[in-house]
Amino acid sequence: MTAPILSVKDLKVTFAIHQGKRWPWSPARSLHAVNGVSFDLSQGKTLGIVGESGCGKSTLIRAIAGLVPPSEGQVWLDGAAIDYNNRRDMQTLRRRMQMIFQDPIASLNPRMTIRDIVAEPLIYFRPEMSAADRRNATRDMLDRVGIPERNFNRFPHEFSGGQCQRIGIARALVSAPQILLCDEPVSALDVSTQAQVINLLKDLQAEMGLTLVFVAHDLGVIRHISDDVLVMYMGGVMEKAPASHVVDAPRHPYSQALLSAVPVPDPRVKTTPQVLNGDLPSPIDLPPGCLFQSRCPKRIDACRNVRPALLGSANRQVACLLEDV
Ligand SMILES: Nc1ncnc2c1ncn2[C@@H]1O[C@H](COP(=O)(O)OP(=O)(O)OP(=O)(O)O)[C@@H](O)[C@H]1O
Ligand code: SF4
Ligand SMILES: [Mg+2]
Repeated sequence: MTAPILSVKDLKVTFAIHQGKRWPWSPARSLHAVNGVSFDLSQGKTLGIVGESGCGKSTLIRAIAGLVPPSEGQVWLDGAAIDYNNRRDMQTLRRRMQMIFQDPIASLNPRMTIRDIVAEPLIYFRPEMSAADRRNATRDMLDRVGIPERNFNRFPHEFSGGQCQRIGIARALVSAPQILLCDEPVSALDVSTQAQVINLLKDLQAEMGLTLVFVAHDLGVIRHISDDVLVMYMGGVMEKAPASHVVDAPRHPYSQALLSAVPVPDPRVKTTPQVLNGDLPSPIDLPPGCLFQSRCPKRIDACRNVRPALLGSANRQVACLLEDV
């Protein structure tokens, strides 16, 4: 196996929060948004991340990108450990890793033409480029994402959501990063536009040798785009495996419940979504034992006290005490 381009080891993110009235002397409590996530990702591959709202998907990729400070853990880019407090490391990170967001319109500056929006990263990351080369690179990139040149002097509000996401992708990729972190980039788009944007991302990935981390709620989308998948719950990883394994034969009880809710496009196949009863634990006072125990239909007594580690083979890892590994 080739050395991973991105390695994340035991990454944790906590937020200090004040509950109730905020007095200067009231102590802050820690909200555990990401609880020890680890993975390796090889160049040119796609890691999909799924899980319910609030499970820490965005916080995880924002922490990797250096947009929120990790409280513990380590990230390596191409074998080099990143120091998020070091300016030079952060410059390298920003040049080599870019991010696209869920709301394509809000993530573009409304006062800039799309030509300037896409050209802007080149000013920071490729300062040696002449103005003419910058113009050419911008034109090529907008052309690759399917925006015709006659539209280059228009502003973001004059485009549809799908076109804005294409412009966002052009901006993220114009400086030729190695890794693209995608935070639900198609959730706000209609189904046919989703498919176009995903196919565009896959084409650009193949052309540019890009490595993708792709957050989505839609398991169909995840199955289509990902090589491997992380299933997250309460900031932790419940299952990690190739996309086909997770989607076609999930092993963790939480992955099984998530998958049971996905409609099957065949009227002869009857599916019964598994309803998860029970409350989610508070991310502020994490309980001992398995984080999924309050909703798990398969829990046993031991689940109350033992936090299952993510164990298994290189092909599939599951964090569940019932796993015979
Ligand atoms: N800046 C912040 N301050 C305090 N808590 C935060 C902050 N950002 C996120 N959180 C909390 O961290 C947890 C994880 O949030 P996050 O946005 O990463 O979830 P998510 O999986 O991306 O959810 P969604 O699918 O809705 O986007 C949640 O409990 C959230 O309330
Ligand atoms: S460890 Fe126990 S509670 Fe957790 S997923 Fe497995 S069976 Fe369910
Ligand atoms: Mg999110």
